[in-house]
Amino acid sequence: MLLHVDQVNKSYRAGQRILKNINLTVGKGEIVGLVGESGSGKSTLAKLIMQLEKPEKGALFFVEQLMTKQNRSYFYENCQIIFQNATAALNPVWTVRELLREPIQVAHKSFTDREIQTMLEMVKLPSDILEALPSELSGGERQRVNILRSILVEPQLLVCDEIVSSLDRLIQREIIDLLVTLNKEKNMAILFISHDLKAVSYLCNRIYVMKSGEIVDESRKCEGGFAFTDKYAQMLFQALENE
Ligand SMILES: Nc1ncnc2c1ncn2[C@@H]1O[C@H](COP(=O)(O)OP(=O)(O)OP(=O)(O)O)[C@@H](O)[C@H]1O
Ligand SMILES: [Mg+2]
Repeated sequence: MLLHVDQVNKSYRAGQRILKNINLTVGKGEIVGLVGESGSGKSTLAKLIMQLEKPEKGALFFVEQLMTKQNRSYFYENCQIIFQNATAALNPVWTVRELLREPIQVAHKSFTDREIQTMLEMVKLPSDILEALPSELSGGERQRVNILRSILVEPQLLVCDEIVSSLDRLIQREIIDLLVTLNKEKNMAILFISHDLKAVSYLCNRIYVMKSGEIVDESRKCEGGFAFTDKYAQMLFQALENE
């Protein structure tokens, strides 16, 4: 087991419950989806997983280890997150070369120019992009730079929170195919949070459905697709079939 979220509760104010008894797991190399209506708590859960927020009750484990302040650096070397807003995540005055240098230094790694070129090729970025500023890139290119920054440390788990929402269909598909490649070639596990049920169904081996701070259903992909028992989850995916 890579990630284990165990009976986690979270509220921002007294009397409020944003997350209610959340149980979620991600196995090594697994691609897991997390879907649910806006405001159901998906990003809050992602923030807890990334230790940007603390659970009120319950605990989070990474490779069977309780996630604490003490083992934070081990955790960050092995777990990365990408958010929807690719532009906000990139310092506008840094070139792509400088943007890539930062995570490499944090991870105490070093790469030759040749190795950097290979990595650019892997995420399908042109080799002459290194001297460009984020403002000179397209939205798709910016998100590829974000992905590349996140995978440089070769994390075991990549959390993606709505990373394709602001991109057009074709670019979305390319980014999703890139995630599939990373999963296959690096055995990188992915927690894919999205409103795009089509993308989630295509990409994920297992899906959790959230509603009002609770996980109401979970289904593994089987031959006929996903089989949900909860009414709300069934309704969500029914709409997809009728599209
Ligand atoms: N820092 C915060 N302080 C107070 N309330 C917050 C904070 N962050 C989130 N919330 C509240 O928590 C609830 C869940 O928000 P969250 O962003 O996790 O939803 P979401 O499922 O990611 O929604 P979306 O699909 O729109 O991204 C919302 O009611 C939101 O207002
Ligand atoms: Mg969100």
